[in-house]
This record gives sequence, C-alpha cells and structure tokens, in this order.
Amino acid sequence: MYDWGDKRMSNTPAGIASIGIQLPPLFMPVTQLAKLRGVDPNKYTKGLGCKDIALCPDGHDAVSLAVGAAKRALSRWDRPLEDIGLIALGTESAKDMSRPLSAWVAEELGLVGAVRSYEVKHACYGGTLALRQALEWNWSGASAGKAALVIASDVALYSRRDPGEPTQGAGAVAMIIDEPEVASVSATSFPFSSPAFDFWRPVGDSFPSVDGQLSLDCYRNAVSECFGALIGDRDARSVLSEYGAMCFHVPFPKMVKKAVLHFGEQLGWSAQEAERLYREKVEDTLEWNQLTGNAYTASLWISVARALVGLREGTRITAFSYGSGYGAELLELTAGPAAASAQWVSDVEQDLDAREPVDMGGYETLRGHARASA
Ligand code: HMG
Repeated sequence: MYDWGDKRMSNTPAGIASIGIQLPPLFMPVTQLAKLRGVDPNKYTKGLGCKDIALCPDGHDAVSLAVGAAKRALSRWDRPLEDIGLIALGTESAKDMSRPLSAWVAEELGLVGAVRSYEVKHACYGGTLALRQALEWNWSGASAGKAALVIASDVALYSRRDPGEPTQGAGAVAMIIDEPEVASVSATSFPFSSPAFDFWRPVGDSFPSVDGQLSLDCYRNAVSECFGALIGDRDARSVLSEYGAMCFHVPFPKMVKKAVLHFGEQLGWSAQEAERLYREKVEDTLEWNQLTGNAYTASLWISVARALVGLREGTRITAFSYGSGYGAELLELTAGPAAASAQWVSDVEQDLDAREPVDMGGYETLRGHARASA
C-alpha cells in the first residue's frame, strides 16, 4: 500500500480538474473481422465480449489522438496553458527510443518553458503511473501551484490473424491534474507487480508477442492481489458496497468479468453473488470500451470517464490498472461537482457519430500499411 495521507506538503487538494477524450475516425465491427477470418462471430462477441475495433487511418496515430484529447481537456479548464508545469504521457506506441512522445504533443500544443515533459512506459499501466506521478508531484509541494497535463494514448494492433486481433483498438484520454472538480484521487493506493513475459514487444518488432493464457492468469492474479490489499481483514461485502462503480483495465470486456468471478470465488462467494457484483458495479463502465476495443493505456481511463458520468458528488469508485510485464495498481476516486455535467460525454458522442465503418477490403488495405507505433 502507498499512503501519501500525512506526508502531503501541499494544502490544495489535487485531483482531476478536467477530462478530454479523442477516439479515431474509423471502426470495424468484430463480426466483420470474424467473417474475414472465417471464425464464428460468437467467439468474438460472446466469448470475448467485443463489439467494435477503433482504427486509425494513415496520418492518425497516438500523437494525433493525444493532441486531440489534450486540446479538449484544456478547453474545459479555466487557467492558461502557461500554468501547466508538467506533461506526462503514458503510452506503449512510442515513436522513438529516446525522444518522448510528450515532445510531439507539447510541440503541437505550444507548451514550451519551465515544463517537465516525459513519456511513461509500463504497457497499459503507463497512463496510471503518469497520473500517480503528477498527483505525487503536487502532493510533494514541488508543483508550486502549477498543474499537470496527463495523457494516456495508444493504438493497439496485433499481427493479422493473431488471437488478439479482435481485441484491437485505439483512443486517448487527457486529464488535467489540479483542483478536483471532476474527481479527487485517494492518497492511498494498492500496487502489485510480478515480472512475467505475458505480453511484450521486442525493439524493432511492429506488433506484440503474447502468451495468451499466461496473460489471463497474470491479470486475474493482479486483481485478486490488489483488491485483497484494499479489503485487508475487513468484510469484503461491506467494503465493496461502499463503491458506486468498479472500473478496470479492459483488454477485452470478458477479461474483466472473468477476473471479477475469479475474485468472488477466492472470497468464497457463490457464482451468482459475483455475477451480481459484476452486473451492478462493473458492466455499465465497459460501454465505451466495447466500442473502442483495447486502447492500452487509455482503456482504464475510458472506463473511469464513463463511470463518472452523472455521478453524485462524493460517490466513490475504484480504478484497477494493469500493464503486462506485469504491474498493477488499484486506485480510489471520489466524484467531484463536475461529474454531474460530464462535459467529456460530448467528445465520445461526437467521435462515435462521425466515425466511419471500414469493410473487409478496407481493413486489409489499412493493415497493409500499419505498424503498431504508426
Ligand atoms: P483465443 O485463444 O483465440 O480464444 O484468444 P479462446 O479459444 O480462449 O476463446 C475465447 C473465449 O471465446 C473462450 O471463452 C471460448 O470458450 C469462447 P472462455 O472459455 O474463456 O470463457 N468461444 C466461443 N464463445 C461462443 N461461441 C463460440 C466460441 N468459440 C470460442 N463459437 C486471447 C483469446 C485472450 C488469448 C486472445 O484474444 C489474446 O491473445 N488477446 C491479447 C492478450 C490479452 O488481451 N490478454 C488479457 C490480459 S493481459 C492485459 O490486459 C494487457 C494488455 O492490455 C497489454 C498491455 O498491458 O499492454 C493485453
């Protein structure tokens, strides 16, 4: 457990002041992909719980997604750009081994000067690490009144015909860390890591390698460890009943359900009780993830953004972050006054309305040019 509780040097409560989301302009229903690959579509829709894969055309990438999300978050924040003192970008779609992706984004935003700018890598966990670092920078007092721009942005592609292909996706979420208008983040969090080769992308490889079964086991284990630490020796039912929603990293929606059911089993619950917890606290948070696919670092934050919509101020939610390799952290957020109006919903509605479907031929052409970092 990490606890910044009484070590905070800053008197201003920090949290998420504003959210911006950017989704790519193309998508493909997984039923189309199933047809293309000669697979029963029920495997993708029922077996994995997927609906659509968000796709980037040529010229769109993790930078353009990050810039779009950042501009939207900044447009809803009432301080000038000069008040940003840190930009941290969590991604696994790096363009370069040295130059951070944040430099491309800062360039587009005109963010120059006394600003700490860097990229954070730990597979899908990178965005959450960036957020925690920004909060701890604030809590330490080092921010000296400045705010942080945290972005999680990724384009997730697997090799053609890889079992991970139906789980592909893309998207970016930007968050400004300042006054907790949208949500405050608890100073206490529950990390867990255990090195493994469950999913990795060697230097020079365009697409990841995956040990599918191991990755499921690692994810499930991380959920059990982190929630086990949160609950401690208290009663699990009463601890979990305190939360209005439970958000997870979403590699594919069924993964989340599997992990919740597994944790229920470990608690000695009946399958029906674990199913009920999933239905009541988790299922709705996956709505946008089903339409984007796995957006790696952004996946958890897409789910959190969905869960915060319309939440009454003071309602608490959990956010479970997982990154292959593997590392995880469970956070607790409390809805602020701006969750009720949830202005970021318009980003999602606008992008979903505008995006165009790609047919089987279009997908194969697109994949002909694609690299994971492109
Ligand atoms: P697979 O091995 O081809 O699929 O790929 P499967 O054979 O295990 O089938 C999947 C499910 O569909 C099964 O359900 C089947 O029974 C069912 P389950 O038994 O598990 O409940 N099924 C059907 N259902 C209805 N009708 C049918 C039918 N056929 C089968 N006809 C795998 C699955 C997850 C391995 C693959 O998609 C993959 O490799 N994905 C990428 C890895 C991944 O997402 N892992 C998740 C945890 S790791 C993580 O979250 C990190 C990550 O985001 C990366 C990062 O951190 O950077 C990935």
